[in-house]
Amino acid sequence: MSTIAAFYGGKSILITGATGFLGKVLMEKLFRTSPDLKVIYILVRPKEGQTLQQRVFQVLDSKLFEKVKEVCPNVHEKIRAISADLNQNDFAISKEDVQELLSHTNIIFHCAATVRFDDHLRHAVQLNVTATQQLLLMASQMPKLEAFIHISTAFSNCNLKHIDEVVYPCPVEPKKIIDSMEWLDDAIIDEITPKLIGDRPNTYTYTKALGEVVVQQEGGGLNIAIVRPSIMGATWQEPFPGWVDNLNGPSGLIIAAGKGFLRSIRATPMAVADLIPADTVVNLTLAVGWYTAVHRPKSTLVYHCTSGNLNPCNWGKMGFQVLATFEKIPFERAFRRPNADFTTNNISTHYWNAVSHRAPAIIYDFYLRLTGRKPRMTKLMNRLLRTVSMLEYFINRSWEWSTHNTEMLMSELSPEDQRVFNFDVRQLNWLEYIENYVLGVKKYLLKEDMAGIPEAKQHLKRLRNIHYLFNTALFLIVWRLLIARSQVARNVWFFIVSFCYKFLSYFRASSTLKV
Ligand SMILES: NC(=O)c1ccc[n+]([C@@H]2O[C@H](COP(=O)([O-])OP(=O)(O)OC[C@H]3O[C@@H](n4cnc5c(N)ncnc54)[C@H](OP(=O)(O)O)[C@@H]3O)[C@@H](O)[C@H]2O)c1
Repeated sequence: MSTIAAFYGGKSILITGATGFLGKVLMEKLFRTSPDLKVIYILVRPKEGQTLQQRVFQVLDSKLFEKVKEVCPNVHEKIRAISADLNQNDFAISKEDVQELLSHTNIIFHCAATVRFDDHLRHAVQLNVTATQQLLLMASQMPKLEAFIHISTAFSNCNLKHIDEVVYPCPVEPKKIIDSMEWLDDAIIDEITPKLIGDRPNTYTYTKALGEVVVQQEGGGLNIAIVRPSIMGATWQEPFPGWVDNLNGPSGLIIAAGKGFLRSIRATPMAVADLIPADTVVNLTLAVGWYTAVHRPKSTLVYHCTSGNLNPCNWGKMGFQVLATFEKIPFERAFRRPNADFTTNNISTHYWNAVSHRAPAIIYDFYLRLTGRKPRMTKLMNRLLRTVSMLEYFINRSWEWSTHNTEMLMSELSPEDQRVFNFDVRQLNWLEYIENYVLGVKKYLLKEDMAGIPEAKQHLKRLRNIHYLFNTALFLIVWRLLIARSQVARNVWFFIVSFCYKFLSYFRASSTLKV
């Protein structure tokens, strides 16, 4: 019997962000391995005209929970959804619900966050810092609380090259930032945001770093740990390979490339793609929950949930395997293809591609307008290119994360726990994982029929040919305009033409001589 699974039996567990990508995989694993747990409280906000119950039903109705329903048929009864908005004071939870949470909660997994890289600083602080502070305050009033696990990100200190499993101080105290957000207006916040975030690329990484400082400063007296995952991808093994329902990060890129919208991205092919499967993050998080509650470490331990230092994969390899899966060809063939341009760090290629991505969208919208339909492609393409540009910081750099605490924890687990809560990424086969990821995106995120793969392949081929044709036409038009206006361009053109002519004459003469 797994010690960790037994530990969660009979427990009342509070999860924030349970309707998000990580939260769902976490709940699924808890129910599957500890079906005798008492209750999972989830803080949910009503959304898009759906009631709380409808939101819970939607989560449980997903394919992700199919196995759970076999081992825990009364799973509906074990979820207690509490109406809460983490943007509001005291989360806008009713008094009765607060009382219930305070009296019963044994373990907290704090997953909720805004993961939008370019969120307004006020909103990002509210959710990633202030809400964490408020949750800690609630936690300090819970007599039965055994552990508080805070989910952060490995990129909270991405301004450093080497990152240790420690909480780094921030130049401005989080409390001062929280206070200032209350009285500064949006225009001033916009002005000071670049100065506050300093050498971090966005408000997300900055506020996640502030959140960690809050946890360390205000979690005194609680058993707290911080888990820092890197870029979370589809599941590796559990409950089945390739499950994903989130457009963030690589999934969005895979869809854009698979649909033929994105031909290349400016990535450094040798930079480490620090991807980590969602089920690996969940296994580590549950092991951390157990260890923190049972062993009660004296200080707040930080655990890096990363792959780069134990089993590195780079963006080049990932790009070729994505391509290989699209085309149903072996990795080696995709790798050898001369036009395999999924990743390139060539800046001129990048700008050329930005033009050649936008121009067809504009033409297509023109066609839609002509035929009386609503144009949508330019907007979509602009959004996509903006997302890609926000990701560029992360796909052109490598970081080193130390993993002493994570490795220590692995050595503390029994062989059975190491098997049931496996977070050893050294066992991960990247090519297999990426293939399952791409197929999972098609199946679980886009909900497309797998029988349509040959047709999709044909479609991709057609789009590729249109792209080449378009690039050639665009190149010829630009070249023609240049020749008409620039003497240098005319000289280059005459040089090329005369060079080709001489080469052909030489070739003809030498073949005549042979005869
Ligand atoms: N995704 C990654 O690659 C990645 C990598 C490293 C670390 N992380 C960390 O992992 C955690 C989970 O990320 P994720 O990818 O699962 O994010 P996600 O899918 O965007 O989920 C975010 C969750 O937070 C909830 N939430 C947001 N605002 C809320 C509010 N005002 N009140 C109540 N709930 C609110 C969302 O609820 P709704 O369903 O109502 O929106 C959702 O359940 C975050 O702390 C993130 O920083 C993620």
